[in-house]
Amino acid sequence: MAERAGGQPWWQRGAIYQIYPRSFADSDGDGIGDLRGIVDHLDHLNDGTPASLGVEAIWLSPFYRSPMADFGYDVADYCDVDPIFGTLADFDRLVVEAHRRDIKVVVDFVPNHSSDQHAWFAAARAARDDPRRDWYVWRDGGGPGRPPNNWRSEFAAVGRAWTFDAASGQWYLHSFLPEQPDLNWDNPEVEAAMHDVLRFWCERGVDGFRIDVAQKLAKDPQLRDVRPGEPPPNEDWQPTIHERLRRLRAVVDEYPDRMLVGEVYLLDLQRVIAYINSGDELHLAHNFTFLHLPWDAAAFRASIDGFEALAAQAAWPAWFLANHDHPRVASRFDADGQGPARARAVLLMLYALRGTPFVYQGEELGLPDAEIPPDRVVDVDGRDPERAPIPWRAPSQAGPGAGFTTGEPWLPITRAAEELNAERQGSDDASTLTLTRRLAWLRRDQPVLATGEQRTVDAGDDLLAWLRSDDDDGAGVLAIVNFAAQPRAVAAPPGLAGHGTLLLSTDPARDDGALTLDGLRLAAGEGVLIRIG
Ligand code: GLC
Repeated sequence: MAERAGGQPWWQRGAIYQIYPRSFADSDGDGIGDLRGIVDHLDHLNDGTPASLGVEAIWLSPFYRSPMADFGYDVADYCDVDPIFGTLADFDRLVVEAHRRDIKVVVDFVPNHSSDQHAWFAAARAARDDPRRDWYVWRDGGGPGRPPNNWRSEFAAVGRAWTFDAASGQWYLHSFLPEQPDLNWDNPEVEAAMHDVLRFWCERGVDGFRIDVAQKLAKDPQLRDVRPGEPPPNEDWQPTIHERLRRLRAVVDEYPDRMLVGEVYLLDLQRVIAYINSGDELHLAHNFTFLHLPWDAAAFRASIDGFEALAAQAAWPAWFLANHDHPRVASRFDADGQGPARARAVLLMLYALRGTPFVYQGEELGLPDAEIPPDRVVDVDGRDPERAPIPWRAPSQAGPGAGFTTGEPWLPITRAAEELNAERQGSDDASTLTLTRRLAWLRRDQPVLATGEQRTVDAGDDLLAWLRSDDDDGAGVLAIVNFAAQPRAVAAPPGLAGHGTLLLSTDPARDDGALTLDGLRLAAGEGVLIRIG
């Protein structure tokens, strides 16, 4: 594991910030974000001062050549930039400008499937005896209109995971859209070609990869039916999956200090941790069990403890509660109108739990989902609301594009743009943006937040509490989050000193300074960081 002298590897230190390029910033007025727009806003992410988010790295969702059936997750050329987003030269400049600000660049790697417009698939489809035919998963059906097995697309609206190609008389597999045929990873040529894609981007200076649907890189070669109660044959096929991940790791290890984070969409923590425990597969795995929790302190505690119990020395958590595929936190946990406070508490959890915080663009602004009228819906799987463009400036000053675009935005911008835009929040001490900046820089100033041991502690009903410490005498930082929709009084956790110093509260009304733990009243949704000992 490559480390900076005396420190943690970069991918453990600070936040990794996800950019969904279509919706981040548009530099040319076509209503769609682009690479130059990202460069224009890098100072928001890290300008080296606490007036920025101080992010460690950005992860860019796909910007490759694509017909955009799945908005870039259908790749037609793995080694080129789609003209909508710019050029390879723009990408090179983005890497230079990011590195100049000490921001690492992580790119999305979409190895399970290509676009049906990729030259490989065009060749595969053209003739049964084409050498590329076997690069995809083709099978005869079970009779007229009957696909080879019962596998379903991950997109409910698509239905079965097979499409019949009348010209060649066979079916091809697509775990997502029909426009996203699955590559055949059982063919070593496919694996080698995808390894070369990693090398291409490493040579261009990228620091890591987020592996799209990593668990799908190995499937049952016999393509048996999915049956309830049996291990799913359409993903996580053992031990093949681990062998393939180990070989991907070996490729990035040809270069210094590179990182692999997997989208490991398995809702069984044990299986997720198997991807990071050995230390020679993924560095990090996105933990979707965490994302699927109800807003309940006991559930979050059990999940955090569950990870720590299963994790071997090499395993490092990657916390996230939002990305481009799931409703935003401020809306998801808003059942009783507490969404905005909870979005702030979530930020505190991400930065103060042992592990790497993954922050999705707009999360630092506490954005809710945008309202998408039926005639503006573009995604097959209902994910438009969380993908709405970032409001950089007040519409009353910057026009309806809210500083995202001078044109017509590809998705409507949130109605909260006037209040929640980045410019306004940047000069408001009470804003969510200011809170996120403080959390990020506190993690730098208080190294125990990045490096310390962690144990959850009892602090009372509805309160999630955990201690980060470097030594055994209880000194360290205590974090407490109130999950209740009402105020709650803290019961000082057993063995902890009764006094502490408030480092930060998500409630702007609370003053910093000395406090007594026992009886401390936390507001609904409030989270606090308290220095102890
Ligand atoms: C991942 C992506 C999602 C995409 C899918 C297919 O889950 O996060 O956006 O639709 O893979 O590539």
